Amino acid sequence: MELEPVKALFLLSPRLTALVTTMGKNGKVNAAPYSFVGPLSINPPLCYVSVGKEGKDTEAFALQTKQFVINLVSEEFAQKAINCEAKLERGENELEKFGLHMTASKNVTVPSVKEAKATIECNLSEVINPKDSDHILLIGRVVGGKCLFEKNGKPDMDSMNLIMHVAKGHFRKVGKRIDLKRNK
Ligand SMILES: Cc1cc2nc3c(=O)[nH]c(=O)nc-3n(C[C@H](O)[C@H](O)[C@H](O)COP(=O)(O)O)c2cc1C
Repeated sequence: MELEPVKALFLLSPRLTALVTTMGKNGKVNAAPYSFVGPLSINPPLCYVSVGKEGKDTEAFALQTKQFVINLVSEEFAQKAINCEAKLERGENELEKFGLHMTASKNVTVPSVKEAKATIECNLSEVINPKDSDHILLIGRVVGGKCLFEKNGKPDMDSMNLIMHVAKGHFRKVGKRIDLKRNK
């Protein structure tokens, strides 16, 4: 079938679902779900969160304190994490409102989500405004993170019950592991 451009774009699915935490300069904490999130560079370790330009709290807070935390969403708290999409008064804490909890991060002042089994702590290094686009990219310099499940000294992505976002209210679980030989 031929696809119109936006439908073709969404072939880039599913993507990990993240609950992104940020903090305003007044110390208020914000949390919202994002799935346009990905790795960008290894050296230095950079990642991005693509944020719609309609004046989201995540952008405003990240610009104020220059930090954010990507908290990966597991099935156990998925509905509560997705509830955090609600547009509350700026500064009202979505985590408290929807039954989730904050815990101190190790390398940034912005708190992490206690329920998250894996987190990525970032300093905001740059904001990119792609020409004529409706999203901006928050570029994060990864300064640390945590993962509650490990196997052979590496994060065990199979044990965290992470959920992937397809589109709208459609999600999937991380699927079966497949090992392939690589040419280098
Ligand atoms: C699973 C899921 C993924 C989402 N991914 C994005 C995304 O990648 N970028 C974006 O701008 N909005 C995304 N949204 C919508 C934001 O969560 C929503 O606009 C939210 O109100 C933003 O909150 P904030 O103003 O506190 O940042 C997503 C929503 C859900 C439920």
